[in-house]
Amino acid sequence: MAPPRTPRRPFRGRRVVLGVTGGIAAYKAIAVARELTLAGAAVDVVLTRGALKFVRPLSFEALTGRPVHTSLYPQGDPNLHIRLARDAHAVVVAPATANFLARAAAGMADDLLAAVLLATEAPVVFCPAMNDRMHAHPATQGNLRRLAEIGYRLAGPAVGPLAWGEGEGPGRMIEPDEIVAHAGRTLEGPGPLAGRRVVVTAGGTREPIDPVRYIGNRSSGRMGYEVAAAAWRRGAGVLLVSGPSPLPAPTGVELRRIETAEEMRAVVEAALPGADALVMAAAVADFRPAEPAAQKLKKEAGGVSELRLQATADVLRATRYARRAGSVVVGFALETADAVENGRRKLVAKGLDLLVVNDATEPGAGFEVETNRVVLLSPGAPDEALPLMPKSEVADRILDRVELLLARAAVPE
Ligand code: CTP
Repeated sequence: MAPPRTPRRPFRGRRVVLGVTGGIAAYKAIAVARELTLAGAAVDVVLTRGALKFVRPLSFEALTGRPVHTSLYPQGDPNLHIRLARDAHAVVVAPATANFLARAAAGMADDLLAAVLLATEAPVVFCPAMNDRMHAHPATQGNLRRLAEIGYRLAGPAVGPLAWGEGEGPGRMIEPDEIVAHAGRTLEGPGPLAGRRVVVTAGGTREPIDPVRYIGNRSSGRMGYEVAAAAWRRGAGVLLVSGPSPLPAPTGVELRRIETAEEMRAVVEAALPGADALVMAAAVADFRPAEPAAQKLKKEAGGVSELRLQATADVLRATRYARRAGSVVVGFALETADAVENGRRKLVAKGLDLLVVNDATEPGAGFEVETNRVVLLSPGAPDEALPLMPKSEVADRILDRVELLLARAAVPE
């Protein structure tokens, strides 16, 4: 039986003010309100006068289950802007038009959303959306610089088709899932991983037999992608080194795609001197064809009846000397028998600070599923067996341990 999909509500107990200003991308703010609400946040939507020309309050009310605000001085509630500002854990403005950016940069308080921005101490993210020429204009660029100086975060704009079929340069608002990821990073605040550099590997490698065939494995990369996304949310700069995977690049993460174990080794080795942590979630092939054919093997020519294999480099071992002193290294092990004993051996043999052990025979664990049941092993610490949980939550547990290990390494003996 497939394990139940546990709904995850990472924003539970958090309040987000979602400011919507008057651009065509306002329709996408409806999806943002929905995703934030599904993730557990209480979403207070503030619509500007311009936004009301594009979207109606009822759509947001139905999705957030909360009243939507449109006026600085609603009947009988002159302190609404102060209350919204004080209660917010984060403010997200999506879309943020050129006009609104100008008002915010000038510190205006001429409508509810602008007043909330002045009154809040919560972190603020702007998701600009406008025609590409309006975005490139020196006045808008100056306003964006000013907003960044104030300490506001800017997410986007992206390059892509704009309204009226126009535009080549940046101007398009980033997508709702990316906005939600930025809201998540903002809600985390400057955590222990802020300013840290984390390298994560994910997915399986492909070792060529000939130009069209390869030896590979069933890894989807999901576990590593979740670790990369969670590390970015916690404030780290993240390099994700991934074998072929159908998953989209996580927001904010630098993605390097590789195919073979050797390519993975080279990228990891080059990145390690600047890294505070390496999380090796990739399912690296242990063997590769010793002599990959330069041309496709044809069956008329006898095809191939035997493949001579040779060992690939063990990325964790081969890159040991490139590690920075005090950096934290996490390995994964997929076992089918004696998982914990085998894991303890790997922990020592590979010089790891943490090993995440999966038993591939457990239902709901391993490849091609969204859940995992793992045991965390660390030198000098008791084993921690976690219950079956979504891989996104396993990623958070792993990063909790990485943060502890980094804090410990920073304390002089
Ligand atoms: N790993 C690696 N390079 C390889 C193979 C594995 O860096 N060529 C890493 C994996 O990314 C993982 C850890 O080593 O973090 C453990 O991988 P696993 O395949 O379970 O370990 P092996 O030492 O290859 O042992 P086994 O004989 O069980 O396959």
